[in-house]
Amino acid sequence: MTKALLIGDDAPNFTATTTEGEIDFHSFIDGHWAVLFSHPKNYTPVCTTELGYTSKLKGEFEKRGVKVIGLSVDKIEDHDGWAKDIEDTQGAALNFPLIADDGSVAKLYGMIHPNASDTMTVRSVFVVGPDKKVKLKVEYPASTGRNFDEILRVIDSLQLTANHKVATPVNWKDGEDVIIVPAVSNEEAAKQFPDGWNEVRPYLRIVPQPGR
Ligand code: BEZ
Repeated sequence: MTKALLIGDDAPNFTATTTEGEIDFHSFIDGHWAVLFSHPKNYTPVCTTELGYTSKLKGEFEKRGVKVIGLSVDKIEDHDGWAKDIEDTQGAALNFPLIADDGSVAKLYGMIHPNASDTMTVRSVFVVGPDKKVKLKVEYPASTGRNFDEILRVIDSLQLTANHKVATPVNWKDGEDVIIVPAVSNEEAAKQFPDGWNEVRPYLRIVPQPGR
């Protein structure tokens, strides 16, 4: 059995045919954050809604410096025809590359779960950092459409941790208070947060969300 790809692992590179031409994944990332997500099959209802909605979020991804790329094990000519349906039915044209996978990328990223289906991918989402490491991995069954607003929320949290050394509490939403990560000493925190913090416990130090 091949080892599952886990948070913190290097995101493996690949080349693939997409609706926007041949792509080398690591060159595609090019210092950005990236979302790589699979959907089970073209011309299926849940996937159609997901791709339409993700297209509508283009501005939100761009604001965060995130590049989006989708994948299914389908032929490139099928992607092109389906993209027209997405535009007609979801009110948004596909505006990110969609990989026409022969199964090799799906296998590399563990997106095929043989006990669910031998051929179709589950609904995987990988968020990859500018360092090309896996930052988030989620998997949904084929019949459950994902919540892409939640993916944006996690990206906001990941970027706060990367840029400001803070973590986000339960059900956190953009603009709410955050937590100084345990690895930051009080001495270091005093430099970063000169206005101080609310020390609920020595390990639970709350500050307003930085960078706003
Ligand atoms: C869908 O995208 O609608 C779908 C795909 C596979 C199984 C169930 C639903």
